[in-house]
Parts: sequence; C-alpha cells; structure tokens
Amino acid sequence: MIKSFQQEIIFVTGKGGVGKSAVAAGIALKRSKEGKKTLLVELGYQSFYTDYFAEQLKAPVAFSPVRVTDNLDVALWSGPECLREYAIYLLKSESIYKLFFENSVSKALINVAPALPELAITGKITSGPRHVGPPLRYDVIVVDAFATGHFLALLKAPQGMAEAIQFGPMGDQSRSIDKVLKDSNQCKYFIVSLPEELPTAESLELAEGIEKTLGAKPVIVMNKMLPVEVTPHEGASDFEKFLTNSQQRQNQALSLLGGRPLQKISFCFQNDSWKVVESISQEINL
Ligand SMILES: Nc1ncnc2c1ncn2[C@@H]1O[C@H](COP(=O)(O)OP(=O)(O)OP(=O)(O)O)[C@@H](O)[C@H]1O
Ligand SMILES: [Mg+2]
Repeated sequence: MIKSFQQEIIFVTGKGGVGKSAVAAGIALKRSKEGKKTLLVELGYQSFYTDYFAEQLKAPVAFSPVRVTDNLDVALWSGPECLREYAIYLLKSESIYKLFFENSVSKALINVAPALPELAITGKITSGPRHVGPPLRYDVIVVDAFATGHFLALLKAPQGMAEAIQFGPMGDQSRSIDKVLKDSNQCKYFIVSLPEELPTAESLELAEGIEKTLGAKPVIVMNKMLPVEVTPHEGASDFEKFLTNSQQRQNQALSLLGGRPLQKISFCFQNDSWKVVESISQEINL
C-alpha cells in the first residue's frame, strides 16, 4: 500500500486587487518558516510572482517549481499544462502524447470541452492526497487562485464532470478530486476582502457560494485594515478626521460578517513587496 501523507491544501481567493497574491504568499511563507516544505501555486498563463519576488528568484516562475527561499517554492500552473503532464504520465510517453493531443482536431476538442482545464488544474492540486500523477512532495500547497466567479467554476468542475460521466476512469477521477476539495481536514479556503461595504458584501456572497458548492466554511481575511485605533476628539486634524471616518466604515463592514470566521491583516506601510509578505506572514493565524 502507498504510504499516505497528510498534505495541507490552502486556497486563497477574493475579488480582483484585494491582496490575494500577497496574502497567499504570506500564508505560504508562514508555513515555510514553521519548517513545512511549501509550494505556492499561481494559476493561469502569466506569472505575478516573477516580478513580485524579483529579488528572491533566480529564474522566472514556471510550471516546474522554482525556489523562493528556504522551504518555499513557487510554480505557475495552467489548465493545458496540467492536462499535458497528466496525459504523459498516463501514456508513459511524450511521443504518444504528441500523436494524440498535439494535432489540430484534438486541440480544438480540448479547447471546447467544458471544464476540462479546470478539471486538470484541480486534479493537479489534489494529486498528492489522491496518489495520482507525478509525486508532489510538499507538506503544504497554497494556491493563489482565480477571482470570485472563475474560482467557483474551478470548484464546481469536478462535481459537474462526475455527474456528466458516471462511469469509467474520468468519472472516478472527478469524484476523487471532488472528495478531496470537500474534505475540511485536507483543504482550507480563505477569501481575501477589504474592510469596506461593497467588497465585504461580495465576499459574503462568495463565501455562500463556496459553502453551497463544497460544504466548506471559508475564512474571510480582512486585508489592509487600519493599523491604528483612533478616538474622535475636539480639534482633530483633517487627517485624524479621515482616519476616524475610515475606522467607522471599517467597523460597519466588519459588522456585516456576523459570526463568520475572520482574520484581520493590517495595512503594511512598506514599498518592498517581500516586507509586505513577511508582515502578512507574521499576522495571519492558520
Ligand atoms: N496588507 C497589505 N499592506 C500593504 N500592501 C498590501 C497588503 N496586501 C496587499 N498589498 C499590496 O497591494 C497590491 C495588490 O495586492 P495583490 O497583487 O496581492 O492583489 P490581488 O488580489 O492578487 O490582485 P489581482 O486580482 O490583480 O491578482 C500589491 O502591491 C500588494 O503588495
Ligand atoms: Mg493576484
């Protein structure tokens, strides 16, 4: 029997520009400093971390992991690359893969097959606990995932495919991916938000979507919180008034969350991206 190992998989999502990538990197850095071998994964075709970690990286971020710092690697996974890797693994030959997949007919088929790229990505992310595909020897995988709607589509893909294809290996694979995504001992979900009314309302909607899709209870990370407490007083300066105002709006946003799991991350006044990530890693509770 294959020796099972407990790999922690952490998904970080949220609306555009709220700090998903910085928070995902902070979470990954925290785990790596705890001595866990950690892989930070970005999804899609274009790397954000290549520039963000320009000082730490010796090579651009690619499909195969590159080293950021001790215990921390980063990789960029797209649907087609995940699919290609899995197909080569199954077929045990790159030339057979090319024969079947690298012709215009099957390329067109792959491009129109709904949810196939999403299935390949979730398949790769959950390949460790499922013991499928090339070994992914990390204690922790932190995914800087797609924003809101696209993220829900990613999570729904395995279940949708399992319903569409009841039998055979494709159905089995889809069911096993879905099972890992729904396992709260294995996967955790963080929604990054800003402490303002509109982003908070959107984050709540996303949290409900994740709950409905997976039964998981995501944590909302309120990012860029005011790092100081201000008390309104007589003769306050314009800047103090601005801070008081921001604090009130922040508290209103927080009150919308009800009893949902919450983490707060302060705004970090640093130009250096690595310092921002370090500051987030020190503040986040996992
Ligand atoms: N707590 C923080 N304090 C200070 N700056 C922050 C904080 N969180 C994120 N930032 C900065 O805000 C900017 C946007 O963050 P980031 O790129 O992580 O957002 P994102 O949600 O990943 O954006 P996108 O949707 O484009 O992928 C970055 O320059 C990042 O360094
Ligand atoms: Mg990002």
